[in-house]
Amino acid sequence: MSIALICQQWDPAPWLEALLAADPELDIQVYPDIRAPENVEFALCWKHPAGSLAQFPNLKAVSSLGAGVDHLFNDPEFPVAMPVCRVVDPDLTQGMFEYVLTGVLYFQKHFQQFASQQQSRRWQRIISPYCRDYRVAVLGLGVLGGYCAQHLAGLGYGVSGWSQSQKELAGVECYAGVENLGAAVADADVVVCLLPLTEQTRGILATPLFAKMQPGACLINVARGQHLNEVDLLQALDSGQLGGALLDVFEIEPLPENHLFWHHPQITITPHCSSVTNPKSAAAQLVDNYRRLRSGRPLLNQVDWQRGY
Ligand code: GLV
Repeated sequence: MSIALICQQWDPAPWLEALLAADPELDIQVYPDIRAPENVEFALCWKHPAGSLAQFPNLKAVSSLGAGVDHLFNDPEFPVAMPVCRVVDPDLTQGMFEYVLTGVLYFQKHFQQFASQQQSRRWQRIISPYCRDYRVAVLGLGVLGGYCAQHLAGLGYGVSGWSQSQKELAGVECYAGVENLGAAVADADVVVCLLPLTEQTRGILATPLFAKMQPGACLINVARGQHLNEVDLLQALDSGQLGGALLDVFEIEPLPENHLFWHHPQITITPHCSSVTNPKSAAAQLVDNYRRLRSGRPLLNQVDWQRGY
């Protein structure tokens, strides 16, 4: 029996190496070089080509190679009710926290303004607030969002958080439900999006939400490009409703060369690398899940099909 590794947008070599280091006995078939599709029971995917899973008649479960699973459900031919797992990994979580903290400090310490002042050789001091006087709202309190919210609170930031269902997190003012979204972001200096992409959250970063934020507040999107209405963001920046945006994810990736975001002075772009799964640290849990699958034990980090995350 074997595992199919389908990640054409990434180099499969480090994954293959890490999986075989975790278990040298594994039979791994790397897509598109599939020798014996009937042997494949478990598929490890990152943005697999739509329909490509149909070739495996004995497939029993699929795991995303990342934290998000929306790329799996994007496939209209994704096998219905197939058990789906994702990666939950301390390195991925810590990496995300470090990125979000960098983003918060970037706005808090006025680095966006200093970058633009440097362009025009302008020497103008701007005194920045301390963490204790700076507020962050985290949208999405799952593994990544919950960790970021709690650790920001631990550093002294005023932190609110918002999620679909009510959460309790030490030091975080938690809100739940669409009706409380406005309250969650009202006082924030920075809003961080770490939501899963679902039909409920698609396009949530748009004018109605921006209007609930205080003028000049900033946005960090490290979830999915489809959370953001790009036209609304440009309008909000141009009107001063938002003060800046740090974006790691985009509707179209790579961001097209002629996209307006590239040259916007209040938009900072990183190329979808806020936190990247480290094959060395994630391989053990993928192999563990394969063993669980083979011995009929419950899988770890399984996704709820109904909720989509
Ligand atoms: C990255 O975007 C991930 O889902 O891990």
